[in-house]
Amino acid sequence: MGILTEEMRRVVDEQRLGFAATVCPDGTPNLSPKGTTAVWDDDHLIFADIRSPGTVENLRHNPAIEINVVDPILRKGYRFKGTATVLTEGPQFDAAVARYRQRGTRNPIRSVVLIKVERVLLLVSPACDLGLTEAEVRQRWRRHLDSLHAAGHSSPPAQRSARVT
Ligand SMILES: Cc1cc2nc3c(=O)[nH]c(=O)nc-3n(C[C@H](O)[C@H](O)[C@H](O)COP(=O)(O)O)c2cc1C
Repeated sequence: MGILTEEMRRVVDEQRLGFAATVCPDGTPNLSPKGTTAVWDDDHLIFADIRSPGTVENLRHNPAIEINVVDPILRKGYRFKGTATVLTEGPQFDAAVARYRQRGTRNPIRSVVLIKVERVLLLVSPACDLGLTEAEVRQRWRRHLDSLHAAGHSSPPAQRSARVT
């Protein structure tokens, strides 16, 4: 059995959006969203480099990476820490690109970042410290998102259907 449990796989499969932190040459952090975050196998995550020049350049110098994936309704998620390999060709790269094509990603993919997950930490919102049940937390945030929609603060449908990742 690998490091990624069924529950972790479920959250990544459902959310797809991870925030990837890498280390810049001057030691400062670099954090950027990756909507192509996916489970590769029991020990690895991947994301597609569509336009992530900073992240990829950092990884070429220092392969250390952390990706956070959070369910914004349930306010729970995971911090995946590990070591990345940037794939630009070969059978693994081809297989990963094929998987993205199958799931509908049409953008050109420059490289695929393969992360060997070495440590996972659970993320739980402080809302849960208040004794709210999962159902109550879910209801609270669904209501909040619904009110944003109703107020017209979220993307119009045309933009949403054209989303990239
Ligand atoms: C919601 C969202 C999802 C994104 N997903 C990806 C992605 O999967 N792959 C990618 O290369 N860029 C993605 N981007 C764009 C990059 O995050 C963006 O170009 C960023 O500036 C890259 O910074 P970096 O080079 O430091 O990684 C996404 C942006 C947003 C807002």
